[in-house]
Amino acid sequence: MTHAQRVFSGVQPTGNLHLGNYLGAVREFVRMQDDYECIYCVVDLHAITVWQDPQALRDGIRELTAAFIACGLDPKKSIIFNQSQVPAHAQLGWVFNCVARLGWLNRMTQFKDKAGKDREKASIGLYDYPVLQAADILAYKATHVPIGEDQKQHLELSRDIAQKFNNDFGVENFFPLPEPLIRQEAARVMSLRDGSKKMSKSDPSDMSRINLTDDPETIAKKFKKAKTDPEPLPDSVEGLDARPEARNLVGIYAALSGKATAEVMKEFSGAQFGQFKPVLADLAVEKLSPIAGELRRLREDPGYIDSVLADGAERADAIAEPILREVYEIVGLLRTRGQ
Ligand code: TYM
Repeated sequence: MTHAQRVFSGVQPTGNLHLGNYLGAVREFVRMQDDYECIYCVVDLHAITVWQDPQALRDGIRELTAAFIACGLDPKKSIIFNQSQVPAHAQLGWVFNCVARLGWLNRMTQFKDKAGKDREKASIGLYDYPVLQAADILAYKATHVPIGEDQKQHLELSRDIAQKFNNDFGVENFFPLPEPLIRQEAARVMSLRDGSKKMSKSDPSDMSRINLTDDPETIAKKFKKAKTDPEPLPDSVEGLDARPEARNLVGIYAALSGKATAEVMKEFSGAQFGQFKPVLADLAVEKLSPIAGELRRLREDPGYIDSVLADGAERADAIAEPILREVYEIVGLLRTRGQ
């Protein structure tokens, strides 16, 4: 049996979406919604693995939902909802806690990064985070997961959990092995202040990232101040090797313009950053300002946003609940007729 193609992905409702989230993930979500059944989740249960102010979390859930729609997600085509409102995520997450192995989680690099030096003080939820992520995907038997490069290891864990569940219970092919979809040009958008660090919501410097809500002057200023080296742009992609900041800005330009990196190199071969940066900023403003405008409009209509989430949760639950029942039967938590 092959599984019907179904797309699932999630984003945490913590802080503004930035250019990395957009190019690495959300823009792909939008592209996929015409060709696949798509489920996009505001992962509020993942957000609370680190302390969240409750009011900020409530606001963040609405804000991210509005940003999804402003970026082009259509709630009629795609299912948009927040994770906590569909109980199957947490329920399947528990079953998977009993399938996943400690050794697998000990290898997760994101936990090591996020927990920092004082690992003993990290929440259990932060450690267990990738198991819940596997439950998110497999509660829908999703086959494809659009993500940025940083989530690749978590996706591999989801595949391992699916495989072990299928093996342990002798239900070959019950869960699909979900495939990551990682768009190469924008797989890893880096910080504007340090080309060796990814662009991130949690970077203390706002100058390190372009937020989808930044106004045109702020976008221009951030690119102008972006760290670079003193050399002009090379004439080939290989010329970007060992030049992480140049590679990042060129990569952003390629992703925003839809051109291949080699083509961008041809266009800007020999240009100084003083020439390239304003062109890049103009392109970013052109692509992002309609999104910011739409987001401002949607913020004025929280009733609409709440109705999208309620409708999405109902549709998501209708898919996940029967799958969870089957899991409970397979595991022996629930009797099937005649057993
Ligand atoms: P989150 O909220 O950190 O990020 C959302 C998406 O944005 C991508 N991303 C980036 N892509 C390119 N360059 C960057 N600098 C960059 N920063 C972030 C992320 O890879 C992600 O695709 N664990 C996930 C949320 C999650 C999830 C899931 C994803 C929970 N359950 C199930 C897929 C399937 C996370 O924290 O994403």
